[in-house]
Formats: sequence, structure tokens, C-alpha cells
Amino acid sequence: MREAATRVLPEEVEDGFRRMWRDLLPVGRFDATGGYRRHAWTAADAECRAWFEEQALRRGLAYEVDRNGNQWAWLGDPAAGDAVVTGSHLDSVPDGGAYDGPLGVAGAFAAIDALRARGLRPRRPLAVVNFTEEEGARFGLACLGSRLMTGAVGAETARALRDADGVTLAAAMERAGRDPGAAGRDDERLARIGVFVELHVEQGRYLAGTPHPVGVASAIWPHGRWRFDFRGEANHAGTTRLEDRRDPMLAYAAAVLAARAGAERLGALATFGRVRVEPNGTNAIASLVSAWLDCRAPDAALLDSLVEETARAAEGAEVTRESYTAVVNFDPPLRDRVARVLGGAPVLPTGAGHDAGILAGEVPAAMLFVRNPTGVSHSPYEHAEEADCLASVAALATVLEDLLTPAPATSP
Ligand code: GLV
Ligand code: MN
Ligand code: MN
Repeated sequence: MREAATRVLPEEVEDGFRRMWRDLLPVGRFDATGGYRRHAWTAADAECRAWFEEQALRRGLAYEVDRNGNQWAWLGDPAAGDAVVTGSHLDSVPDGGAYDGPLGVAGAFAAIDALRARGLRPRRPLAVVNFTEEEGARFGLACLGSRLMTGAVGAETARALRDADGVTLAAAMERAGRDPGAAGRDDERLARIGVFVELHVEQGRYLAGTPHPVGVASAIWPHGRWRFDFRGEANHAGTTRLEDRRDPMLAYAAAVLAARAGAERLGALATFGRVRVEPNGTNAIASLVSAWLDCRAPDAALLDSLVEETARAAEGAEVTRESYTAVVNFDPPLRDRVARVLGGAPVLPTGAGHDAGILAGEVPAAMLFVRNPTGVSHSPYEHAEEADCLASVAALATVLEDLLTPAPATSP
């Protein structure tokens, strides 16, 4: 058995990783919270993209941006097909942490450095990818870049998505110098990919307190986002009798409590984390409350029940499903192979969505999770120890090396 996860990286590879991390750290950080606001097609995103391009060119990798705005860096001939692809995303949730996404991209470049230091000459093309708008923080649809590439969302639907200021994805892409008309399922690119492996910080505490810095994903819970629009009537907070009010905040509050109670009973997760109120005045009864429910469950039936139950409690609210991702069971032979080359790494499920989950519908895909001592994520306090990050780079390099050998990616 190979002791891959514990294999030590050469010092220059470790230093290279630290340098990449240091360069990326200030990009898009909001000083008041210490969190990141790296939203797709914004100035911060452009800086992240410039960083990616620089990393690619510095290593002599062929750099390109695909029709959907995802960035690629290639070692070997992309047209040869059957590529081993690794990477993640550089965008963030509002006030997100440093690791969710960037660890998988910086880790991918560092893993290539490690393979080169080992003198590996890949027999298959190897690529690093940065998927656009994975968090859906600006346009509301998570994994937008990979969904577009695979056709999981139609180009027309995606182009019409609007941010909080009403700017469409099409307009934002145009402003960033991209052609939104070219967006859509990319068969040619998908045909190049033999296997996809995403390295990601763990967003829970499964590995915390274990001797394992790295785990392997088994599955992603089915999950989705629903917008609830509660309509009422604006009026004066100081003069309108309680019995005369049409206050949508009450139904909203009932929905929040129902979602929580239902999630507890069903062993699922439900979160109202975003709310928009009109007119949003302290001394005015609201005329409209729009709130977004993020719901995740171990299976689709439980997920449906929880959303239905919440909608029932939401008394008259208009409920719109904005996204849905079915359960993802990562390719079992690939998952077992990855766990085995990592010396028997733990295998764990997650409730978090990932581009690897979208890709899994098209190609064998796998994920490595890096120990997170507190489990906190989507927060400025998200953290992974540097030693664990470096161990994960070594692990990723070993997985890539194994996949780059002639055996087919899905054979055990
Ligand atoms: C992605 O981070 C998600 O919301 O699951
Ligand atoms: Mn995330
Ligand atoms: Mn992520």
C-alpha cells in the first residue's frame, strides 16, 4: 500500500504553494469582516482570474478560457482527449472564507509542481480548471460555470439571470469581455475530459480530531434553492392597528420556524440565509418579503417533504424553485481507487454542492476533502492548517499520478 497522503513535498513545492496562497489572500477581502467577496465577473473576480492566468503561464501551461468563462491550464495536448482534470473555483459566498474553492485551485497547481518534481511525464493531458460562479452568490444559481458547460442549465435561462442590481449574466459577461452568446453545453470540451478530481476544504467536522488530514467524498445530498415571495401591504408601524395589518413578515417567520422544525424531524437541513424586504423601513410594515430557502436532505423524498411542509407554513407565499441538484453518488470504482492509493483514507458524504457533483453526471468524478478543525465554512472563520493543506497537495499529486498511469480511471 502506498503511503501517499503522508508523502513529503519537496521544499520548493511547499514554498510555491505558500507563495500562491499569500498572493491570493488579499484579493477580494472585505476589511470590515475579514471575509471574501469574490463574486463572478466583478473586479475581485478579475483579479482572481489574473492570478490563475499568471500561475498557468508561469508554469508554461497552455492557458484558455472556455465558452462559459471557465479558466483552464493544460499540461499536454488538450485535443488528445481522456484528460485528467483537477481544480475547483475562486469565487466566494458573501463574506466567505479563504479556502472554499481556492484551496482546490492553488492545490492543483502545487500538485502539478509536485509531479514535475517527481519527474513524471504524463501520458494523458492534465488540466487545472477554475469554474465560474460556483457559489451562485451573484446570479443565484450555484455551479453556474459547470452547469452551463454540461447543459444542466440552458444558456438562454442563464443569460437572463439577474444579480441584486438587476444586471443580467449576459451583460456582466459582456462587460468582462466575454461573449455570452457563446455560452452553453460544450460537447467538445466535455469529450476531452477523462476524469475530474476536486480538492476542497471539508465543510464539516468529520475529519476533525481524526488522524486523517484528507478524506474522500462518497456522495452529495440532494439539495436546492427556493424563493418565497410573501406579499403584504405597506403601512405605518405606529398607527396601523394590528387587526388592520397585512404584514408578510408573520408568514415569513412561520416559514422559518417550520423549516427548522421539519429539518430537525426529518434529519435534513434547511436555511433561510437571505432575505429582501420592501420597503425595508424600521417604521413601515413590509409590502414584500422575499426569502430564499436552502434545503438539503439525505434523499429526494425527504427533501420534497421538507420543502412542501415549509411552503404550507408560508401561508399564501409564492414559491419558486430556483435550482435543484439531485443526489450525487461519486463513481464507486474511482472513489475506492482514490481512497486506496491514499492508504485507506476515510470516505464521507457531504451536504455541500460542488462542481465535481455536476461533472459527475458526465464523467467519473471524485473529491478529496481537507480536514477543517472547526468545520466552519462559508464564513471568514473557515480554516485548514497549513500542514493539512500541504498534505492534501501531496495526496492530490499521488491521486493524479495514479490516474495518469495507463490503467483506465474507473478500474479498481
Ligand atoms: C456550495 O458551497 C454550496 O452551497 O453547497
Ligand atoms: Mn461554498
Ligand atoms: Mn466550494
